[in-house]
Amino acid sequence: MTIRSKIVGTGMGVPEHVVTNHDLEKLMDTSDEWIRQRSGIAERRHIREGERPSELAERASRRALDAAGLEPGDLDGIVLATLSSEHDFPGTSFFLHRRLGVPEIPCFDLRAQCSGFLYALATADAYIRAGMMRRVLVVGCEVHSTGLDLTTRGRNVSVLFGDGAGAVIVEANPDPEDRAGVLAVRMHAQGEHAERLWIEAPGSGSYPLRITAEQVAAGRHFPQMEGRFVFKHAVTRMPEVLRETLDAAGVKQDDVSWFLLHQANLRINEFVAQAMGIPPEKCPSNIERFGNCSAASIPMLLDEGARAGRLEPGQLIALAAFGSGFTWASAILRW
Ligand code: COA
Repeated sequence: MTIRSKIVGTGMGVPEHVVTNHDLEKLMDTSDEWIRQRSGIAERRHIREGERPSELAERASRRALDAAGLEPGDLDGIVLATLSSEHDFPGTSFFLHRRLGVPEIPCFDLRAQCSGFLYALATADAYIRAGMMRRVLVVGCEVHSTGLDLTTRGRNVSVLFGDGAGAVIVEANPDPEDRAGVLAVRMHAQGEHAERLWIEAPGSGSYPLRITAEQVAAGRHFPQMEGRFVFKHAVTRMPEVLRETLDAAGVKQDDVSWFLLHQANLRINEFVAQAMGIPPEKCPSNIERFGNCSAASIPMLLDEGARAGRLEPGQLIALAAFGSGFTWASAILRW
C-alpha cells in the first residue's frame, strides 16, 4: 500500500516590530519608491533585542500543532530549514526542540536557503513514505535582520529581507479514499553560482580564524548578491521546475487553484506568472508586509491561505522557490 504524506496543520510567527521603507530611509540612502518599484515591499518585521529565531519557530509550530489538533508529544521528528541559525551549532531546531518540550525525537537543521522549506518538505515526505516517521514538524525560520548591513553600503540586499517563521505538520495519509497529500516534489541545485548570493564569513573557509578583521571591515560578514544575475536565473528556473513537477504529478497547470511562490521579489513572481500564463490572482503574496523571509516565506503563505479559508479541500496547490546555492524546487499538493 502506498502511503502519501499530507499537511494537516499550518502556523506562522513573526516579530511584532514593523520596519517600514520610510524607517529604512532614515538609516541609508534609499526611498520607499525605489523599494516598492523594484521589489513590491512596503514593510518587513525585525526582531528586537532578546527575541530569538527559535521563539518565532515555536510560535509557528504551536499554531500548526493546534490547527492539527495535536500536542508536541505526537511528533516523530522535526526538520527546520534556515540560513540564519540562532548559533553556529547546534542548529536552531535543537532550541525549538527544547522550547516545545518534545520527547527524544530526532531533529535537524537543513540548509538550502530560500528553497529550504521545499527541501525540508521533500525530506519529511520521504521519511513518511519510507515508513520511518508518521508525523513530522517542518519549519522554515529566518532572522535576517541581525545579519544585514543596514547602511547605504548594504542597501541592495538589506531592504529586501525580513524575519519570520512558518511551520506545517506533515502526516502519513494511508487512506486511499483521501486524495489529499504531497503529489510530487522536485529539487535542483547549481553550486557553480554559490558566490553570487552568499555570506562569506564567519566560516571555516576563512583561515586561521573563521573571520578576519579585514573581512569585518569590508562587510564580508553581510550578504553579497549579484541582484540582476539572481533575478535572471530565478525567472528561468521557477517556470522550469514548476512544469517538471506538474508533469511528475500528472496535473494540468489550469487545474491548479493556487501558485504559492517564494517571496523574494514581487517582480520575479509577476514575471514567472506572465511567462507561464498564470492569472495573477492565483499567486497570492505577502512580500508587501514581510519582505523576503527565505525558508519561511512559503509556509507563511500556506498559513495565511489556510486561515483565510482560501485553501479548500480538494484544491491543487503548486509551490515553487529559488534561492542561494543556487537552489530551486517545487511541490504539488492536493489540499
Ligand atoms: N535604494 C536605492 N537605490 C538602490 C538600492 C536601494 N535599496 N539598492 C541599489 N540601488 C541602486 C544601485 O546602487 C544602482 O545605482 P547606480 O545605477 O547608480 O549604480 C541602482 O539602484 C540599480 O541597481 P541594480 O542592482 O542594478 O538594480 P536592479 O534593477 O537590478 O534591482 C534588485 C535590484 C535587487 C531589486 C533586483 O536585482 C532583484 O530583485 N534581484 C533578485 C534578488 C533576489 O530575489 N534575491 C533573493 C533570491 S532568494
